Amino acid sequence: MRNLVLLLLLSSLACACTDLQFLRSDHPLMPVREYERMIVGRLDADYVGNDNCLGKCHKHEKIFRDFQLSVHGEQIAVETGLPLVNCESCHGPGSLAIANLEGKEKCDFETLLQFDKLPSQAQSLICLKCHSAASTPALHNWAGSIHANSEVSCFDCHKLHQGPQQKASRKEIDALCYGCHQDVRMAFLQFSHHPVPENKMACIDCHDPHGGSQSGSLLGATQKEVCTRCHMQYQGPFVFEHADLTENCGNCHSPHGSPNNPLLNSSQPFLCLQCHSGHLDGFFAPALADQNFKGAFYSRCTDCHSSIHGTDVPSAKGRGSFISR
Ligand code: HEC
Ligand code: HEC
Ligand code: HEC
Ligand code: HEC
Ligand code: HEC
Ligand code: HEC
Ligand code: HEC
Ligand code: HEC
Ligand code: HEC
Repeated sequence: MRNLVLLLLLSSLACACTDLQFLRSDHPLMPVREYERMIVGRLDADYVGNDNCLGKCHKHEKIFRDFQLSVHGEQIAVETGLPLVNCESCHGPGSLAIANLEGKEKCDFETLLQFDKLPSQAQSLICLKCHSAASTPALHNWAGSIHANSEVSCFDCHKLHQGPQQKASRKEIDALCYGCHQDVRMAFLQFSHHPVPENKMACIDCHDPHGGSQSGSLLGATQKEVCTRCHMQYQGPFVFEHADLTENCGNCHSPHGSPNNPLLNSSQPFLCLQCHSGHLDGFFAPALADQNFKGAFYSRCTDCHSSIHGTDVPSAKGRGSFISR
């Protein structure tokens, strides 16, 4: 009896050891294709290639034609001459879909990956398995981006079968974004606006839809950098800066649109009066003061302070009052 217990103990110890050995050894990751079979829910599904998929079914001729002309269709492996991206790269293994086609109108498409039943992150993984941040630098910030975190997937913006174009074209981008950002459409309808509706620029001139390091998925490292890429004259540094206000152009400007020209958050003099008071000063002041003038300048402040974004030119009192002479 004692021997038996000892034997049991020893054998369980041996098991434990081999288990540990098992943990310590390397395992190859399961190929993505295996996961796809699991998502389909059928481990017997297999990959059959474009010719088999499409040879038996002519429903998708337009999709196939567009696909062949697309950048995806053009990817051919040098060694084998076989396509690197085919229908099954995204739709999953197709053997079951075409298994019993006789006398049927449609293939059994429910045996393919059902994209609309996948959560958005899983949808995106279908693209990310090839478009890693390493292979596609544009997706460097995707993982932490507001879109990725708000259940927006790659397919929401990339309609791959509308034609050969896989990227959203510049002209279509604003309509695409308005689909979910109606309030931004309203802003661009304002009297003063960046010429996005005129197709002279697009949302992606300021935003990266795949995310960025700044708030609002803006391009570049700072807000000023986004704006001065085009408005270089305000980049500075100036001898007389308007404090650190110009670090964020949004302190005075609404980037999309505004009822106040030019893209001002509020009209003058109210914009300035948020932080300054009107004054009776300057060139006319002494003369006016002599006449017991009690008013102040409440007109367009920039009629006199015309270099409001900063200047190297001192004013009469040798200060930086943004008055260009
Ligand atoms: C790079 C990924 C990708 C590849 C490759 C791809 N598809 Fe698709 N396909 C999608 C996505 C994503 C959707 C669903 C969203 C949409 O409508 O864009 C879709 C939807 C479809 C649909 C249903 C919606 C529709 O537009 O009618 C069909 C049919 C289809 N694909 C056929 C094909 C065929 C045939 C091929 C090969 C020639 C192919 N796909 C290759 C990603 C892909
Ligand atoms: C089997 C691998 C593979 C999959 C899956 C895949 N792609 Fe691609 N894709 C490529 C390759 C390779 C290129 C061409 C090289 C490049 O531009 O990086 C490309 C290019 C692109 C381009 C650039 C087109 C251009 O004109 O520059 C877009 C956009 C794109 N893919 C979107 C997607 C989306 C969205 C998905 C998911 C529905 C997806 N891809 C899935 C391999 C893949
Ligand atoms: C909010 C909309 C949106 C989402 C979500 C989105 N994209 Fe894009 N993507 C765009 C737009 C717009 C462009 C065109 C940008 C341009 O012309 O530089 C683009 C460009 C691309 C390009 C081409 C990049 C280049 O440098 O030319 C690739 C590849 C791409 N997207 C892949 C993806 C993949 C993969 C996903 C999901 C992980 C994704 N995108 C999610 C809107 C989106
Ligand atoms: C499928 C819907 C959808 C599409 C299409 C879409 N977005 Fe978004 N976007 C969202 C959601 C959801 C959020 C999360 C915040 C919110 O609810 O506004 C968001 C957030 C943003 C933000 C950040 C807002 C913030 O408060 O920081 C920016 C910037 C943005 N999107 C730009 C774009 C641009 C540019 C495009 C077109 C290339 C686009 N979006 C297309 C759904 C979408
Ligand atoms: C001239 C540059 C510029 C252009 C063009 C632009 N944006 Fe913006 N957008 C900004 C700035 C700057 C912010 C403020 C970001 C912050 O500070 O968080 C912003 C904020 C946003 C926000 C979040 C706050 C809000 O106002 O709802 C969304 C969403 C957005 N933009 C979408 C878009 C879309 C969609 C387009 C194209 C139709 C577009 N933007 C074009 C510069 C721009
Ligand atoms: C891709 C280039 C580009 C970027 C980036 C850009 N702008 Fe502009 N901006 C323009 C163009 C083009 C106009 C229109 C000029 C015209 O109509 O003569 C303009 C006009 C303006 C105007 C004057 C509007 C008027 O009615 O005269 C202001 C103010 C302005 N931008 C501020 C900004 C701010 C703030 C940012 C950063 C959030 C910014 N811009 C980013 C290209 C750009
Ligand atoms: C202190 C408020 C304030 C800040 C901050 C500010 N602006 Fe302005 N900006 C103005 C005012 C006021 C005007 C109108 C000037 C006028 O009417 O003479 C203006 C006009 C403009 C114009 C149109 C006139 C022209 O030169 O074509 C552009 C472009 C512009 N600003 C860009 C920017 C950029 C880029 C930034 C950030 C680096 C910025 N502004 C920051 C107040 C400001
Ligand atoms: C968000 C607050 C804010 C707004 C809006 C603002 N300013 Fe300023 N302004 C400041 C600050 C802060 C200083 C730096 C004060 C200092 O150094 O004593 C400054 C400095 C100045 C100076 C130089 C003062 C001196 O002592 O020489 C002038 C002139 C001026 N602003 C004019 C304007 C005008 C005109 C506008 C409207 C187009 C405006 N400011 C909008 C905050 C603002
Ligand atoms: C008729 C021209 C004129 C107008 C209009 C004007 N200013 Fe001035 N402002 C001056 C002069 C001149 C100075 C003295 C500059 C110097 O010599 O340093 C000055 C100085 C300033 C200063 C520096 C502080 C001080 O009191 O010395 C501020 C701040 C200022 N102005 C803000 C404003 C604001 C805000 C408005 C609009 C409500 C405005 N200004 C309208 C001409 C004007």
